[in-house]
Amino acid sequence: MDIYQNLKKDHETVKSLINELLTLNENDEYRHTLIERIATELVPHARAEEAVFYNTLRTSDADTGIVMHSFKEHMEAEGLLRTLQAKDKTVGDWKKTAQKFKEELEHHIQEEETKVFSLARNLLTTEEADQIGNAFLKFKAEYQGQGAIKNTADMILNLLPARFANKVNKLDVNPIR
Ligand SMILES: [Fe+2]
Ligand SMILES: [Fe+2]
Repeated sequence: MDIYQNLKKDHETVKSLINELLTLNENDEYRHTLIERIATELVPHARAEEAVFYNTLRTSDADTGIVMHSFKEHMEAEGLLRTLQAKDKTVGDWKKTAQKFKEELEHHIQEEETKVFSLARNLLTTEEADQIGNAFLKFKAEYQGQGAIKNTADMILNLLPARFANKVNKLDVNPIR
């Protein structure tokens, strides 16, 4: 699967988990499971997307403002996710935060699948989009397995198409953080 299909698949998973979460009553214990599942889906997705997809796009000469904007939205969404996790464990008043989280995430996904994908489609060949799709899956699996990647630079060098790998390797993994 190419990078576009892989990302869309994850987006659908996270969107349906959040929708399911919002159908629960505020005191439904199942929320703990769903909130943790959302976190274990979303965070590795975001790290892998930044490392192999956004950073490849950053090496382009085209206007990559939308990519930098997307990095920022990841931070904002993860801030809301942490608020949601904290409210769930403490005050229990988690639904308003969940609703805001859903809105921000849907906005981010919509923008990503249109503006970011169209920038990528102009830059990447079909083969490169496949290769980056595989790189994304491997990076995400590695991240899920270890909680953090020990040698991000080597992974990027080995996984990305050669014409991007060296340039991407020199970038901060996330310029915003
Ligand atoms: Fe995404
Ligand atoms: Fe994203």
